[in-house]
Amino acid sequence: MHDFRSDTVTLPTPAMMAAVAVARLGDAARGDDPTVLALEALACDLTGKADALFLPSGTMANLAALIAHDCSGGAILLEDSAHIHTAEGGGFATLAGAAALPLQGRHGLLAPADIDAAIAAAADVRLVCLENTHNAGGGTVMPLDTMAAIHDLARRAGIPVHLDGARLFNAAAYLNRPIIDLCRQVDSVWFALCKGLGAPVGAILAGDGAFMMKARRATKMLGGAMRQAGLIAAPAIVALQDDPYARHRRDHALARRLADGLAALDAALVDPAGVQTNIVNVFRDDAEAIRQALRAQGVLVLGKGRKIRFVTHAQVDAAAVDAAIAAFAGILKSLPAGHGMAAQ
Ligand SMILES: Cc1ncc(COP(=O)(O)O)c(C=O)c1O
Repeated sequence: MHDFRSDTVTLPTPAMMAAVAVARLGDAARGDDPTVLALEALACDLTGKADALFLPSGTMANLAALIAHDCSGGAILLEDSAHIHTAEGGGFATLAGAAALPLQGRHGLLAPADIDAAIAAAADVRLVCLENTHNAGGGTVMPLDTMAAIHDLARRAGIPVHLDGARLFNAAAYLNRPIIDLCRQVDSVWFALCKGLGAPVGAILAGDGAFMMKARRATKMLGGAMRQAGLIAAPAIVALQDDPYARHRRDHALARRLADGLAALDAALVDPAGVQTNIVNVFRDDAEAIRQALRAQGVLVLGKGRKIRFVTHAQVDAAAVDAAIAAFAGILKSLPAGHGMAAQ
């Protein structure tokens, strides 16, 4: 099987498992698991934030952030297809008590002028939420100057900015900048440990002072205060210390190889120039039939409706990419002529 469903399917490396075996443990919820504390200290260094918190999932990180930014009774401004808006069970509303003000982005990316106008038009916007890279947008990267412009205008309006950085290292690797440069442009940020970084579990939420005190309280309420969590923090430390940028660049090169290969089959399938990081989306009317045919040939993908989504990660290599291209080529040949040719 070649598993392109998500970068969440990565398995821990031998070095990560070795780190688990020797991890020093304690009760993390009481603040005395030394491995969790070491991971959180490392995360503070990497993000440049005063405080960082190890959490079981990114969904909880977003939720704790919305609660800690006091969004209850107000609105959050975000891109329409943002993960917070579409894929987290509506927790922004039911648990954080916020209304959503969704704006239409281009490939998931919002323009500062649109955010400025929305803030001016809406009452009681409590938070601007960015997502970089943007998952539904196809792994697209918001440039640093756009982030800076949004941070500036939000600051002038007295509104904090939160970054869903599930794939923060992908964005940083694409921009060829350390993650701290992106984190400077926001007030709070979380990044996944279990996606491109390849650790088995968890997320880091980082921010400053009072916000993080509230985030810690929210985490407790949400059931995210863990005990001997050093067991899952240890592999994350290995991942963060093992040249994460180079590993993400490798994933991006594989995605580009896949996009080039698919475009060579049919230029309408995908524009390789639009593939910035580790996600390749193909849009076809017959997407469901293609997803099933790929699965039958041992190539796993995700997608709903017209989307066929491939994600590259540590568990796929050039041979897997070439196998996926070959499977796609065979499937296209077997389809009736003119079938499903509509591009996005
Ligand atoms: C952009 C984005 N935000 C948030 C999440 C949620 O992270 P988790 O699965 O750790 O809850 C994901 C998961 O894929 C994601 O892609």
